[in-house]
Amino acid sequence: MAYEVPARVRENAATPIHDLDRYREHWSRAERDPDAFWLAVTKERIAWRKEPTQGLEGSFHTIADGPLSWFGDGELNVTESCLDRHLETQPDKVAILWEGDEPSDVRKITYRELHAEVCKAANALKELGLEKGERAIIYMGMVPEAAVAMLACARIGAIHSVVFGGFSAEALRDRVRDCEAEVVITQDWGLRGSKTIPLKNVVDEACQGEAKVKKVLVVKRTGDEVGWTEGRDVWWHDAVDSASPEHAAEIVPAEHPLFVLYTSGSTGRPKGVVHTSGGYITYTSYTHATVFDLRPDDVYACVADVGWITGHSYIVYGPLANGATTLMFESIPTYPDAGRYWDMVARHGISIFYTAPTAIRVLAAQGEEPVKKHDRSTLRVLGTVGEPINPEAWEWYYDVVGEKGCNIVDTWWQTETGGIAISPIAPATPTKPGSATYPMPGIIPSLRTPEGQVLRGPSQGLLCIDHPWPGQARTVWGDHPRFVATYFNHVPGAYFTGDGCRRDEDGYYWVTGRVDDVLNVSGHRMGTAEFESAIVSVDACAEAAIVAYPHPVKGQGVYAYVVAREGKAIDKAELQAACRKEIGAHARIDRMQIVPGLPKTRSGKVMRRILRKIAEGRGDELGDTSTLADPGVVEAIREGAVTSDD
Ligand code: WT7
Repeated sequence: MAYEVPARVRENAATPIHDLDRYREHWSRAERDPDAFWLAVTKERIAWRKEPTQGLEGSFHTIADGPLSWFGDGELNVTESCLDRHLETQPDKVAILWEGDEPSDVRKITYRELHAEVCKAANALKELGLEKGERAIIYMGMVPEAAVAMLACARIGAIHSVVFGGFSAEALRDRVRDCEAEVVITQDWGLRGSKTIPLKNVVDEACQGEAKVKKVLVVKRTGDEVGWTEGRDVWWHDAVDSASPEHAAEIVPAEHPLFVLYTSGSTGRPKGVVHTSGGYITYTSYTHATVFDLRPDDVYACVADVGWITGHSYIVYGPLANGATTLMFESIPTYPDAGRYWDMVARHGISIFYTAPTAIRVLAAQGEEPVKKHDRSTLRVLGTVGEPINPEAWEWYYDVVGEKGCNIVDTWWQTETGGIAISPIAPATPTKPGSATYPMPGIIPSLRTPEGQVLRGPSQGLLCIDHPWPGQARTVWGDHPRFVATYFNHVPGAYFTGDGCRRDEDGYYWVTGRVDDVLNVSGHRMGTAEFESAIVSVDACAEAAIVAYPHPVKGQGVYAYVVAREGKAIDKAELQAACRKEIGAHARIDRMQIVPGLPKTRSGKVMRRILRKIAEGRGDELGDTSTLADPGVVEAIREGAVTSDD
């Protein structure tokens, strides 16, 4: 059964895609002639200095020869689309609506003010020696200066790499090294749910001995004490406040890298996914306006963090390119109480609200009272992203938060896709709880067998995308062969997402989650390999294997199978500390089982399928275990399986 689009969402739609016929027409047009479709979109939406005449160059078949290009002969600076052009039409509109950790701590920054701040910061970064094409790491909480820093880098043609403020010093150091950052931008302390986070001190630890880092620019947020390295460290207020508010944007080719964002995969260290300028800004602007049916008076709130792709695409670049009022939220959904989101909706008149299933489940567990207490009549579109949403959470969002008057847009996408790829379009698409519904125009999904065979009609398989789109990642920083091997070797000629997916009899897509060794815990993407390497760094551990199991709130929980070294005892707290140190505060083991050995094939490969089944509580459905080197080990693991969280 599908839910029809509520009348409030259908009326006065701003997107031309306001019903399913219109959707099909746009989707077909983009499929038949992608170049014509996207050139028209970009000319309409983006401020180019030199308008492109070229669409796509390259293909998924030739990707090993080098990155794809969109709008290759165009030139622009994305910040002119996000800032300068709005000065003529709406200088006094609020661009960034910032709500700090305390609900009373609110800042409203107009487009005029944001433009001036970005220009000042751009001049300051230039003054500090950051050049076009060089990298700056941004390690901050959700303060407006984080967005200003991103845009200032883009303004001078430098490449930013935002690292989520929960990552550890070691994880930060890996990223500083991998992208060879010249500058790190941070703040003294972060503030979340009344707790302070030592951002600058973590930067100090990460940058110890990293001679390549010339300057560390520090925003003062709490004023608490921090370490200071003379000659390297500079206060933001000293460098930026006195800089000139005028800056001529550096004009770059369409394919100039805009940012690198590190993300976890099934093997090895996190990859630096590279997004470029013209295609990315076109795709984020288009999808933001279309999916949410953005209207001029909307107050748009995405409560993600700029440390993840959601924050890049749908807090900063997409909304600002569209001249929207975009919220930046420093705190957490349960501070000071579980009504915080809805209190914000009431106080700011939020009309579009975008969050993650894990937050919805946390809040649903608190009951309806904290929601009902606040006026939510301004809401029109409710978005979700980051992991599959279970129908119960979906229904709660729809019934309790939206009072059946809002459309739910369950947006499926990834760091690599740059923007929303499969999702309802608010005024057009009837929804089904748990389904991301239909592909965006320009996205041609296919479901495949493990051998790459295309499945037709209702079916279940590996989710691939068969044709390039402007917003997709172009390469892995410094390692194009890794990009090709990760995404294009499974199915030659198609992009492999890493997700499994079902298509029903109405053509609706139901993404079921990762089919590779990537974990998704509370919407945080982590690699099993990263966990395993942290765990075996502990002396008492000989071997470890990590798998996910279904978790009622976090979506997935982390299940660790650990083999102790001869005569050594395993201390779970020590393993937790190792994960925290190597990955970050968001990396926690939920369940741990000490096992005598791991189930391996005769060639020594760990059989994760078996470990997954046992962790999921389905140890009686193991299927064929005859290829195991030592079948006895499975019996022992099955008997000792951990079935409750502590
Ligand atoms: C993975 C990508 C997209 C921004 C945040 C996450 C899962 C994401 C959905 C959804 C089912 C989803 C997928 C995907 N995912 N959105 N609506 N339904 N699964 O970006 O960290 O790159 O993670 O998140 O498994 O592959 P990311």
